[in-house]
Amino acid sequence: MDRMMNWAILGTGDIANEMAQALKNTGRKVYAVGNRTHEKAVDFAKEYEIEKVYDNFHEMFQDDAVDVIYIATPHNTHSEFIMEAVSNGKHVLCEKAITLNSKELEKAINLAKEKNVVLAEAMTIYHMPLHKKLRKMVEEGGIGDIGMIQINFGSFKEYNMDNRFFNPKMAGGALLDIGVYAISLARYYLKSQPNQVVSIMKKAPSGVDEISGIVMQNAEGQMVVISLSLHTKQPKRCNICGENGYIEIVDYPRAEEAKIVYTESAKTEIVKEGEMSLALQYELEDMEKAILGNDDDILLDYTRDVMQIMTDLRKEWEMYYPEEIGKAAVSA
Ligand SMILES: NC(=O)c1ccc[n+]([C@@H]2O[C@H](COP(=O)([O-])OP(=O)(O)OC[C@H]3O[C@@H](n4cnc5c(N)ncnc54)[C@H](OP(=O)(O)O)[C@@H]3O)[C@@H](O)[C@H]2O)c1
Repeated sequence: MDRMMNWAILGTGDIANEMAQALKNTGRKVYAVGNRTHEKAVDFAKEYEIEKVYDNFHEMFQDDAVDVIYIATPHNTHSEFIMEAVSNGKHVLCEKAITLNSKELEKAINLAKEKNVVLAEAMTIYHMPLHKKLRKMVEEGGIGDIGMIQINFGSFKEYNMDNRFFNPKMAGGALLDIGVYAISLARYYLKSQPNQVVSIMKKAPSGVDEISGIVMQNAEGQMVVISLSLHTKQPKRCNICGENGYIEIVDYPRAEEAKIVYTESAKTEIVKEGEMSLALQYELEDMEKAILGNDDDILLDYTRDVMQIMTDLRKEWEMYYPEEIGKAAVSA
């Protein structure tokens, strides 16, 4: 491509604003915005100097000038919008969780292959320079073989069963909203996909998962222990533990710093790389690289592994979304 890419944004909520700002900060062009509530798209366009706003946001998918669409709507809408974008030949960067389940994801991946476009999940962990550096250190044996990864993620969301965090009609629940970070982090540092997963879960009054403990192990015997909560604050902290030491990362979804503690010497090392505030910039840069032919940092195979684990967990929990079981609600 011998010109700047034309980005389009679907949605005008919190993360859409952050992405528009990241695109603008890096001198890129947000060519178009589409939103269910048209007036909000008009305001958004004014704020970020966006050329094109559509009366009906579905027109955005058919606009020949659009190269790549960033989808920033709730989880339950992702699959439908990915399919609409990809079938019109658009590259897609979709917010987490990329789909509700593996079936939806496989359909989207197959269509993206057929249409020869890039499909990626906006998973910050895969794009942060710190994680890229730490993974290389781990692969080079810096702290020995990894035996255990411990991961926490807990947000305190008000008990409002209508918001996107708790509402089953908007694919609420801790797993898809924050568990996706924890499992993606685990997959990023593991040698292979876990093949054993056990869990215990407590539902919120709306029937979606509120608190869970998840333990996973892969064929190499590497173990992961995850704790998630949606109405109880926890630090976003992980420990990646090897034979010779451990790496401690706080705020791992967008981390810029980690501490390594070496067991024998008790020495600590601080590793710094990248900037937390540039998380979405790293993400969009990797997306553009992939569109131009180098998709090394897109890691769609990991996205697929993570989605499989989440799909299996919800099956075990008998927790399905309305889209998955016709009009019925999630079983409370
Ligand atoms: N990567 C990150 O760090 C991060 C952070 C936060 C969220 N996220 C993810 O980003 C996505 C959006 O989250 P958010 O917090 O930005 O949400 P939000 O602020 O509630 O915004 C949601 C947007 O989606 C639109 N929308 C809602 N339901 C829709 C529907 N049925 N059809 C079409 N459009 C619809 C809304 O349009 P209206 O204006 O018409 O309501 C609004 O523009 C989620 O997948 C979330 O998990 C990622």
